[in-house]
Amino acid sequence: MTRQALNQLIESPSTAGERHGVLPAPDLDFTPEVAAETAHLYERVKSVIPPVEWPFFAPYVKAINELKAKRNAVILAHNYMTPEIFHTVADVVGDSLQLAIEATKTDAEIIVQCGVHFMAETSKLLNPDKTVLIPDMEAGCSLAASITGADVRAMREAYPGAPVVTYVNTSAEVKAESDICCTSSNAVEVVESLGAARVIFLPDEYLAKYVQSQTDVEIIAWKGHCEVHERFTGEELAAYRAGDPTIRIIAHPECPPDVLAEADFTGSTAKMIDWVKRERPSRVVMVTECSMADNVAAETPGVNFVKPCNLCPHMKRITLDKVLDSLVEMREEVTVDPLIAERARRAVERMINLKS
Ligand code: 13P
Ligand code: SF4
Repeated sequence: MTRQALNQLIESPSTAGERHGVLPAPDLDFTPEVAAETAHLYERVKSVIPPVEWPFFAPYVKAINELKAKRNAVILAHNYMTPEIFHTVADVVGDSLQLAIEATKTDAEIIVQCGVHFMAETSKLLNPDKTVLIPDMEAGCSLAASITGADVRAMREAYPGAPVVTYVNTSAEVKAESDICCTSSNAVEVVESLGAARVIFLPDEYLAKYVQSQTDVEIIAWKGHCEVHERFTGEELAAYRAGDPTIRIIAHPECPPDVLAEADFTGSTAKMIDWVKRERPSRVVMVTECSMADNVAAETPGVNFVKPCNLCPHMKRITLDKVLDSLVEMREEVTVDPLIAERARRAVERMINLKS
């Protein structure tokens, strides 16, 4: 197919609403029937959602779960989603790597991505024939916004022969210029899998520094930062430890080096969750986006979470009412230019295949 024919296809697609139909908006009253039907779900979140708030959430939860079945849809939710999404409507939860892998396995016709845009794009890359929806198209990421495809090409020119490893927190356009993707959970393994003496690692400068601390491969970094994790400081963590020497500190590798130097454990969001479930510390500081501590707290009674509460404004755009609108109206649909998609998919699949 020519580029022109492809562009025509992209410019005049039928909308997801036209393909799947728009449904009537459901009733959102908190009736005794809604209370009874959602009681088992409230049990999962009762330690983190006060009873007075549940009557607001419950009608959405019931409507979303019914619509998922009607639409043959699956909800993939990142670990940073708020507890009412994470514990009561999501079908699959996880870190970026787990969500990408699960996206390849689903039989559902429709994927609703509760996360940010690059995650929905990754799901679309891996499921070109499925409808992928994101409840808010503005849910971006400061790392994804820090770099373009042209920047990657310029890096290749500056460092000829060095392979490009791209963090999944990037646009499809950037992935398409890359040799292989990685996530925070497999970055070191991906870098070392290439057998190269030096590697261009984009776009997170702090994750690049963390990888450099774990490998002999020379890492050439970009200057992107996560606007949430860059706000933590080693000083504030040292103060927590001075106040309670028994406290445990675990951090995401998007944090600056002085923060990671204070941490007892560093890992992806999924690895941090596994660590808490395994170690069951009596007090822990989870140095990452704030909602994750609520999600873990709901499942780990007895663990006390100290929460320096940095929220990701992009993740927090995803709310129950927008998830419901997505399923009722079949929006916002995530699409990727097929020519970009083919090359970007290769970089994501190369990473996933490395895993198995
Ligand atoms: P994880 O892959 O560790 O879930 O990280 C994604 C992310 O956006 C962290 O800010
Ligand atoms: Fe991007 Fe940071 Fe938000 Fe993760 S927490 S989505 S890296 S801005």
